[in-house]
Amino acid sequence: MSAPHTIVTGGASGIGAATVEKLRGRGHAVTIFDLTPSADPDSEAVDVTDEDAVSAAFDRAAARRGPVTGLAMSHGIRGAYVPALEMDIARIARLYEIHVIGALVVARQMVRRLDGRPGSVVLVSSTTAYGGWANQTDYGTAKAAERQLMANLAIEWAPLGVRVNAIAPGHTRTPMVQDLIDKEGYDVSDVERRAPLGRLAEPAEQAEAIAWLLSDATFVTGQCLPVDGGWTAAGK
Ligand SMILES: NC(=O)c1ccc[n+]([C@@H]2O[C@H](COP(=O)([O-])OP(=O)(O)OC[C@H]3O[C@@H](n4cnc5c(N)ncnc54)[C@H](O)[C@@H]3O)[C@@H](O)[C@H]2O)c1
Repeated sequence: MSAPHTIVTGGASGIGAATVEKLRGRGHAVTIFDLTPSADPDSEAVDVTDEDAVSAAFDRAAARRGPVTGLAMSHGIRGAYVPALEMDIARIARLYEIHVIGALVVARQMVRRLDGRPGSVVLVSSTTAYGGWANQTDYGTAKAAERQLMANLAIEWAPLGVRVNAIAPGHTRTPMVQDLIDKEGYDVSDVERRAPLGRLAEPAEQAEAIAWLLSDATFVTGQCLPVDGGWTAAGK
C-alpha cells in the first residue's frame, strides 16, 4: 500500500510544523500549505482563503505525491488581544476569513477530489472556543465557529467515508503565543497557575493528538478533543 498523502496547512510553523514531522515519522507523504514560503520541497506557498490558488496547489501536490486523503489544518493568526469595544472590524473579518472560511475552502477542495476514497480531516480549534474569555472576542468566536464547522462537515461527509474531527489546544509554546507575550504582555505565568497540569503544551503534544484523530481513530467523527492539560475540565 502506498503512503497516505496528507496536507498540513500552517505547516511552516508551530503546531503545524510539529504535525508535519510527526506524520512523516509515521510514513505519510506530507505537503505543506502555508502563506510563508518554505524551503521544504513538498511545500506550496498558498493563502488558504484563495480558493483558486488552493485548488491549483492541490493539483500540483497530487501530481507530485498522489491523491490527497488526509488534511490537518493548523493555519491561523492570533487575535488582537484587546477589549471588544476597541476591536477593528476589518481585522475581525480577516481573522474569520482565515480561520473559518479558509478551513472550509481547503477541506472541500480535498473532498471534491476523493473520488470514492475514504478521507480524514482534523481542524485546530482552541480552548477559547469554550466559555467566555476577556479580550478574545475576535479569536475565540472564530475558533468556536471552527469547532461548529467541524461538526457540520462531519455530518455531511460521513456518508462519503470522510471523518472530520478537531483538537482544541490549550496554550502551546509556538511563535503565535510568543508574539502575544512579546507584543501584548500576555501573562503566561497566570496561564501556568490556572492549568491543572501546571504548564504550557509543547507543539509535539498537539501533533500527537492530531495524528491520532487523523489516522488511528477510525470510529471517531464530529468530535473536538481538548489537548489542554485539564484547562476545560477545571470547574472554577
Ligand atoms: N499556540 C497556541 O497556544 C494555540 C492554542 C489554541 C489554538 N491554536 C491554533 O493552532 C493553530 C496553529 O497555531 P500556532 O500556534 O502553531 O501558530 P503559528 O503562528 O506558529 O503558525 C501558524 C501558521 O499559519 C500560517 N498562516 C497564517 N495565515 C495563513 C493563510 N491565510 N494561509 C495559509 N497559511 C497561513 C502562518 O504562516 C504560520 O506558518 C492556529 O489555528 C491557532 O489558532 C494555537
